[in-house]
Amino acid sequence: MERRAFLQWVGIGGLASFLPVAIAACDSNSSSPTAEAESPASNREFEAVGTTEQLQQSGKIDVSVGNEKAIVLRDPDSNNLVAVNLTCTHRGCEVAWQANQSEFVCPCHQAKFKANGEVVEGPAEQPLTTYAVKTEGNSILIQKG
Ligand code: FES
Repeated sequence: MERRAFLQWVGIGGLASFLPVAIAACDSNSSSPTAEAESPASNREFEAVGTTEQLQQSGKIDVSVGNEKAIVLRDPDSNNLVAVNLTCTHRGCEVAWQANQSEFVCPCHQAKFKANGEVVEGPAEQPLTTYAVKTEGNSILIQKG
């Protein structure tokens, strides 16, 4: 094969193999499982924060998220694990989990939140920040920020 013919052959082959990849990369509506798995949000690392035994014993696991506090607990409404930032969305006081009431209560202006962070009673209008939670074996992991 002559050099010129070889280069044309390689060029067409390269274009043919590159074009589908380039088109797929430009498709912002792509929702293939691979694209989901590689998105930056899902690639954030989960961090082990405790064990299911710890949660069962104390009812919650205290977690630090940067300079703020969060806790992991089991939502009594859904029975799902939830990880909730304790910073009140009204003016930033630290809410406290009231297990007997199954809600977070803010000591500053008495806002109340469900275990999943939803506002029950103002003056706060925004829900508490929550984090993705999962278990691996008996480890509990959360996806911070
Ligand atoms: S700071 Fe929490 S209700 Fe005002």
